[in-house]
Amino acid sequence: MSKIAIIGAGDVGTTIAYTVQLRGFATEIVLVDSNRERAQGQVMDLNHGLFFVRPVHIYAGDYADCRDADVIVLTAGARQKPGENRLQLVNRNAQICEAIVEKIDPGAYAGIFLVVTNPVDIMTRVVIECSGLPRHRVMGSGTVLDSARFRYCLSRNCQVDARNIHAYVIGEHGDSEVLLWSQVHIGGTPLDVFCRQCAVACNAVVNKEKIAEAVRRSAYHIIEAKGATTYGISLAVRRILEAIVRDEHSVLTVSTWLDGHYGCSDICLSVPCIVNRSGVGQVIETRLDRSEEALLVNSAEIVKNTCRAMDRDRRRSVA
Ligand SMILES: NC(=O)c1ccc[n+]([C@@H]2O[C@H](COP(=O)([O-])OP(=O)(O)OC[C@H]3O[C@@H](n4cnc5c(N)ncnc54)[C@H](O)[C@@H]3O)[C@@H](O)[C@H]2O)c1
Repeated sequence: MSKIAIIGAGDVGTTIAYTVQLRGFATEIVLVDSNRERAQGQVMDLNHGLFFVRPVHIYAGDYADCRDADVIVLTAGARQKPGENRLQLVNRNAQICEAIVEKIDPGAYAGIFLVVTNPVDIMTRVVIECSGLPRHRVMGSGTVLDSARFRYCLSRNCQVDARNIHAYVIGEHGDSEVLLWSQVHIGGTPLDVFCRQCAVACNAVVNKEKIAEAVRRSAYHIIEAKGATTYGISLAVRRILEAIVRDEHSVLTVSTWLDGHYGCSDICLSVPCIVNRSGVGQVIETRLDRSEEALLVNSAEIVKNTCRAMDRDRRRSVA
């Protein structure tokens, strides 16, 4: 018995529901949206596919229906317009996230919060602070998607199944994210060793900048072309949900509260974490090279500065 509540029945929320429905690990999915009619329409559409998948109860509900969920996925809020970056959504979406958490009554909630709304690292912090929940029970989808994009680009470049590539993106889910080149392994072999043995001799090491650019800029290209990113993020969220619900202890780069890890504090950022039924378990502190360390410090600073500006704006609007 696993219940997933999805708040925000827009493109991302509904596609997450669809990927969960296809995978068959949930027994109940509730969709909540301020536009009730939209949620009802999405639910009707999803339910018409039920004949083809394992039984699951999918319905449009209210905040009270979220309180006994195993995981609440937060996808409500504004999305980037073409040319806009994620950090520009901060004030609008912080207000929405806070209002939603209040309606859920976090004191009565025993499950996990999974934040997807952008800017996801800052929204994860907002949910931790306004819910008062233990920090390990709130996480953001973070750079799970970016790490998948990294693996995809390496897979194309090196002609190796993405599932045999270990590669992580850490830091902000955004322009300052950090690709951990020093930790890339293909079939258990460090990338530079793999490249020396590879007959193609294209040298992924030389293609680094092109790959990094493709990983960092892909959301912009997709938004420019079709208005929103939907499928990749939904599969990434489905992967996190499965790790939680099935207690898989999977290593995923979710956004989590850092308490001195990697030299960062009082901030949510993505780093490799063990994800299980209790939420975020151990934070894995992998070895970074000097340039990666400096890039992570820069990423943390950018997120912190945006948080400070958001806090200032909100104090001003209350005064
Ligand atoms: N973290 C990631 O990697 C990632 C990837 C893609 C999108 N996103 C983010 O996910 C969010 C949703 O994107 P989308 O494409 O689904 O947008 P969308 O516009 O299709 O859907 C947003 C939904 O939120 C609902 N909503 C707005 N305010 C609400 C409130 N107060 N209570 C309940 N529902 C409310 C809207 O009615 C709408 O249905 C955006 O913030 C976007 O930037 C994150």
